[in-house]
Amino acid sequence: MLRRLYHEQPETFAFTPANHAWAEAQITKYPEGRQASAVIPLLWRAQEQEGWLTRPAIEAIADMLDMAYIRVLEVASFYFMFQLQPVGSVAHIQVCGTLSCMICGAEDLIAVCKEKIAPKAHQISEDGKFSWEEVECLGSCANAPMAQIGKDYFEDLTAEGFAKMIDDMASGKVPVAGPQNGRYAAEPKSGLSSLTEYQEGRHPYNASAQLAVDLGDSIKRIDGTEVPLLTPWLDKDKATKKVAPPRESSAPRNAKSAAQSAPKPTAAKGKTPAKAAKADAKVPEAAQSGKKPSTLKAPRKSGADDLKLIKGVGPKLEKLLNTLGFFHFDQVSNWTDEELSWVDQNLEGFKGRASRDEWVAQAKILASGEMTEFSSRVKKGGVY
Ligand code: FES
Repeated sequence: MLRRLYHEQPETFAFTPANHAWAEAQITKYPEGRQASAVIPLLWRAQEQEGWLTRPAIEAIADMLDMAYIRVLEVASFYFMFQLQPVGSVAHIQVCGTLSCMICGAEDLIAVCKEKIAPKAHQISEDGKFSWEEVECLGSCANAPMAQIGKDYFEDLTAEGFAKMIDDMASGKVPVAGPQNGRYAAEPKSGLSSLTEYQEGRHPYNASAQLAVDLGDSIKRIDGTEVPLLTPWLDKDKATKKVAPPRESSAPRNAKSAAQSAPKPTAAKGKTPAKAAKADAKVPEAAQSGKKPSTLKAPRKSGADDLKLIKGVGPKLEKLLNTLGFFHFDQVSNWTDEELSWVDQNLEGFKGRASRDEWVAQAKILASGEMTEFSSRVKKGGVY
């Protein structure tokens, strides 16, 4: 199956304020320079919010993580858990079709999907409410056959029960996740033969199903208000730190739009805007190792080069480089090893990026007026 961007895309994407706060908090879980590691949780939350991953969502997440659009698209298109085309507005049903489920009746469940939803996987039902697909083993083989909806498992299904479940969802009811044949979890069908004392006083449903019931989020699009934002990995100061407001939308990556969509400096508390801007422009305290290259206070009259044509430099890094006094390819191309080491140390949040992505070699080509393979793709719009 080809996994590529859907031919029709919305104009924009924005996380809800609560989801944006959640996403910013996830990014703080990773060490400096490794923020890209948050790409999967952020993509997943975007999908939980919208139902599927749109191109603007992929671009917005790339901007948040300072990644090239193509890198985020690679992740989104690699993992089948990400839906790259629209899904049903109520539910996208993933029926497990692997061995245990197939033996126990997955084909009957798929027949229900074909009859009630659409003849082919990934087609949306006529009323727009449902879509379905067959997926590989979801690790719930002891409760076969089963299907996943959102992040919940519906197990021990029968064709009749499954068909009723779809009807219920269509009429606005939310089915309870977990085993559908009266089993509590994955114990024998005949009931527990040991640890029976733990049956006393337990919740009506197993922990996963109970949480789904408590949160009411089984087939809900997640807007981030379902649970309070908890950040136990941050110290107290950081935990109360205000997260940046959400962007209005993502926009195509080109010099102009990148400049327009670059984060606006926020006025520091108690400072005039001018003073705050000056504070924002302050060069980070210089690291001791290496030698500082010569810098410029401003771009030459001809205007700054688009440093984003260097692979590894996104809008945030370009702004940081400008703040450090680098505006032109030839400046970067002339860095010595010692100077490169100084730059690497002073890329706050991206330390080591200049050596890792061989900026000097790339800048030498760009300064000579030639194009690199990466910059050619950027110019052609092939880097999302
Ligand atoms: S075979 Fe269906 S969950 Fe494992």
